[in-house]
Amino acid sequence: MDMKALILSGGRGTRLRPLTYTGAKQLVPVVNKPILWYGIEQIVAAGITDIGIIVSPETGEAIRQATGDGTQFGAQITYILQSSPDGLAHAVKVAQPFLQDSPFLMYLGDNLIRDRLTSFVDQFVKQSLDALILLKQVPNPTAFGVAVLNDQGQVTQLLEKPQNPPSNLALVGVYLFSPTIHTVIESLKPSNRGELEITDAIQALVNADKAVMAQPLQGWWLDTGKKDDLLAANQIILDETPGSEIAGHIDEATQISGRVRVGANSQVINSTIRGPVAIGQNCHIENCFVGSYSSIADGVRMVDVEMDHSVVLEGAVIEELHQRIVDSLIGRRARLVHSPKRPKASRFMIGDDCVLELT
Ligand code: G1P
Repeated sequence: MDMKALILSGGRGTRLRPLTYTGAKQLVPVVNKPILWYGIEQIVAAGITDIGIIVSPETGEAIRQATGDGTQFGAQITYILQSSPDGLAHAVKVAQPFLQDSPFLMYLGDNLIRDRLTSFVDQFVKQSLDALILLKQVPNPTAFGVAVLNDQGQVTQLLEKPQNPPSNLALVGVYLFSPTIHTVIESLKPSNRGELEITDAIQALVNADKAVMAQPLQGWWLDTGKKDDLLAANQIILDETPGSEIAGHIDEATQISGRVRVGANSQVINSTIRGPVAIGQNCHIENCFVGSYSSIADGVRMVDVEMDHSVVLEGAVIEELHQRIVDSLIGRRARLVHSPKRPKASRFMIGDDCVLELT
């Protein structure tokens, strides 16, 4: 039976507010590419091309518009609506008509991992497992699903966000399941937070003596739900993206060092760009210093700005700021400009849940 994949791309993205008031967290870019697309590419690279994406009523249309039917990835994508965020196991239940009796890889759409998925898929198939989970040691296990293993490395216990974690092995948001998972989800009860937890479903498989194995993740893992994780993901992906590519126009006064990408129709004038840096298409960068680990999305205008280790989303305008911008995430169409009318005063119009740290 051919494997399918199920990507979970619903949820409210509360930890990435305010960006997620106007868009899906899975579409927030890492190095100018939506987080979700990295997962799709990983799945296709592991040979799985029949992909279902679980979406919410709030952001489903935006995800569908941006991601399409899968042709650009060499895959076939089916969108599946989960009308309320009732848990990861609930999402599997909703996807049952799509999954049918196929084994499947489940991928949480805001997770990014370094390891290729192929060896996990191979192990799952060869050993005819009912579940294969991936684990990573973390310093803050209370924030994750946590697993306990016995001496033989078999999974004995799983707990969702435990207050007193029995181990520091967190469940990474990538799972492989046989269709047996549907049977245990049928009799699952909601957790204390009112959700059908995939962690509880896997525990039910363990309790029923099904074949549940765990593999340690070797490379990095990022759950991109928060600003600092997103900046870290941006840094890692920039570090691992080889080569420079200049499609736009760079004038003679501009100095470029390190790996720098500049998209088509972008102009860089009288500026210093110190890579790794990615600049999208149709940008105007003038009299700027853009330091390492910055990503600037399409249609951004920056004039007289110094910036380091920051992510700027589509269509933002930043002009004549007299302080360097560091460790920042600037949303779509945001405007940060110097006001000549009131030189010693600041004028703000700041949305809900924004964070400004001024010195
Ligand atoms: C979910 C799972 C948790 C897992 C985590 C990985 O948590 O419930 O078990 O460790 O994803 O990203 P969430 O990010 O939805 O809080």
